[in-house]
Amino acid sequence: MKFGFGGYGELELPVRRNQLHDDAVALQSARAAFYLYLSSNKVRKIYIPEYLCTSLDSVFSTLNISIQKYTINSRFLPSKKIELMNDERLVIVNYFGLCDEGISKYLESYSDFSNVIIDNSQALFSPVIGGITTIYSPRKFLGIPDGGFLYSRDINDEPVEFFDSSRSSVHLLLRAAGEINKGYDEFLRAEAALENHEPRKMSKISRRIIDSIELKNVIDRRVNNFTKMHEHFSSINSLTFDLSSKTVPLCYPLKLNSSIDSIWKKLLTYDVYLPRYWEVEKSSSSYEYYDKTLFLPIDQRLDDQDVERLACLIIELINNE
Ligand SMILES: Cc1ncc(COP(=O)(O)O)c(C=O)c1O
Repeated sequence: MKFGFGGYGELELPVRRNQLHDDAVALQSARAAFYLYLSSNKVRKIYIPEYLCTSLDSVFSTLNISIQKYTINSRFLPSKKIELMNDERLVIVNYFGLCDEGISKYLESYSDFSNVIIDNSQALFSPVIGGITTIYSPRKFLGIPDGGFLYSRDINDEPVEFFDSSRSSVHLLLRAAGEINKGYDEFLRAEAALENHEPRKMSKISRRIIDSIELKNVIDRRVNNFTKMHEHFSSINSLTFDLSSKTVPLCYPLKLNSSIDSIWKKLLTYDVYLPRYWEVEKSSSSYEYYDKTLFLPIDQRLDDQDVERLACLIIELINNE
């Protein structure tokens, strides 16, 4: 019998027995999830939105899958219906976790979903619909070093080896200790370790951290903070949102009428670090999302007062432009 009692100390994390995507195949990243699904199927061509990060490209090129980009409309959905052959797949992205209803409506025109992949990388708490192949990236919502979930009926062998995140977790500790700048280099190193998309099981460290998180708080805080941000910005935001839907957003996208470049830079001087989603080609109709949108944090680390302070700062910066 083995006990594991005594010896050196450990980080004392609560055990909550969370059930976060317990029925999915748990891998180290969304990229690994894409790879596992696509390598299990005969796929020649993949349709992806032109508004997307480039991180998935290496998955497609490794598998010799040709990429066909499609345009999205103002609701972040494919501008038109895309007809699919057997060896083609369509990736629909649930942008910022705000597109559940739109995606469901869009899919009403399809009778067969077997060639559709929903990319919920930005929508951790959105459910799988209609048994469609669906992929998640929990790292974008939770402080974990790695993680990717895959739901699909069509996959071959799951990996048996675990992803080793023992050398790519320290940024989480540094950030928790308030060492944001020191942690940033470690964060970049941790992200680089995920560039290898060969599927591994999600690390035991990520699993253990997920089990310690009060997920209800994550959900409630994000929904609350999003609503509060919208109270401040709905009159100037060119994007509209349906606040009655049950989605749990990644961030609050605030689209202005002109470039946010200088505001984004000024925010850095206040230690406010916003992502830029995504630097697509200037000629693309999606470029204006990159150019004119601030993606404001609404995560569980921000309370009402933080949201208020951030919103006031941004309003001041906009007024001074
Ligand atoms: C929409 C979308 N899909 C997939 C990915 C890849 O996720 P991961 O880093 O977990 O591989 C990203 C990453 O930025 C993303 O934004």
